Amino acid sequence: NKGKYEHYMQKEIHEQPESLTTTMRGRLIRGGSCKAKTVLLGGLKDHLKTIRRSRRIVFIGCGTSYNAALAARPILEELSGIPVTMEIASDLLDRQGPIYREDTTVFVSQSGETADTLNALEYALENGALCVGITNTVGSAIARHTHCGVHINAGAEIGVASTKAYTSQIVVMAMLALAIGGDTISSQARRDAIIDGLFELPSKVREVLKLDQEMKDLAQLLIAEQSLLVFGRGYNYATALEGALKVKEVALMHSEGILAGEMKHGPLALVDENLPIVVIATRDACFSKQQSVIQQLNARKGRLIVMCSKGDAASVTVGGSCRVIEVPQVEDCLQPVINIVPLQLLAYHLTVLRGYNVDQPRNLAKSVTTE
Ligand code: UD1
Ligand code: F6R
Repeated sequence: NKGKYEHYMQKEIHEQPESLTTTMRGRLIRGGSCKAKTVLLGGLKDHLKTIRRSRRIVFIGCGTSYNAALAARPILEELSGIPVTMEIASDLLDRQGPIYREDTTVFVSQSGETADTLNALEYALENGALCVGITNTVGSAIARHTHCGVHINAGAEIGVASTKAYTSQIVVMAMLALAIGGDTISSQARRDAIIDGLFELPSKVREVLKLDQEMKDLAQLLIAEQSLLVFGRGYNYATALEGALKVKEVALMHSEGILAGEMKHGPLALVDENLPIVVIATRDACFSKQQSVIQQLNARKGRLIVMCSKGDAASVTVGGSCRVIEVPQVEDCLQPVINIVPLQLLAYHLTVLRGYNVDQPRNLAKSVTTE
């Protein structure tokens, strides 16, 4: 049931304040005046000790689920101190990459039925690793075959392009980072700030959704383009990959997410006055590096669309002209949840304006059950 919406993708984008609320329900504990704020993931509580002792955490997934894990990687590394590596499921299998008994492998999948991810799970089980699932589908193959896990509880996702599952996956993995990281005195302020940030996330997502019309106007401007680049780094490297994936899979426009730190190692050659480029430059530890990326793109007359934190328009447009998308600021590690929303809206409107099928993109299936 699409309710007041024309398409499932549109409905699922706009219901993110609610889906995020359900994802967190009963799992965040605010704490009384003297009690610390904490996270409770029922499905993991008996396994946290084993996870904390593991030598490495390996995230495994495909497509959007892989991107969600990439978005959560920095905070998991920070809070756990355990090395976190990333594997695209098919590539791990192609290489028969090493997986050890001392590893915790985390399988991220909305459907819980993706063949590549499921095959990688069988492979990790054979190799004796602890296998953790992060899925949206209770009773799915991945939920059943993992040793333990967390349901993201985002509600059924019907549009082929994954939207609300992506943001709920990131939130679950941020909670996973909080659960694995011990609550040492030194990390308490950071943990509290993240938990407060999680509580206010639904209202911030509601706020960023107000950019709908602005994104429709931007889509109108880009309707006839051949290609769109998206530059991001740090917490928002994943946002660049995921924004580009949305644009290519539904709007059928070539789009590429680029790690901004790699700009001079090739992509800069593409920059001219015609190619539109989205640069994600919200406030975090990488902000000044992104400012210099913007300056260098401006020097090559790049056609920039800069996403920045509210009130930062002047700081990102120095020395050039560009379109600006201002988004509400949240705790840095949660910013990818906010930043993807305008790009989801952009991909949606581009698709509708270009006259393509939003909910059933050409050649794609919701659940990829074959290799
Ligand atoms: C569970 C209940 C929820 C109830 C809550 C109350 C289910 C599905 N969930 O939620 O209805 O309100 O207790 O305390 O009955 N698991 C995996 N692999 C996965 C995902 C989950 O093995 O990929 C396992 C978990 O380890 C856990 C079980 O499935 O044993 C349920 O996981 P989850 O729904 O996340 O647990 P709770 O949030 O505690
Ligand atoms: C993109 C998309 C796909 C899926 C991928 C994994 O919008 O939907 O990239 O994310 O096929 O699917 P799950 O998460 O079901 O394993």
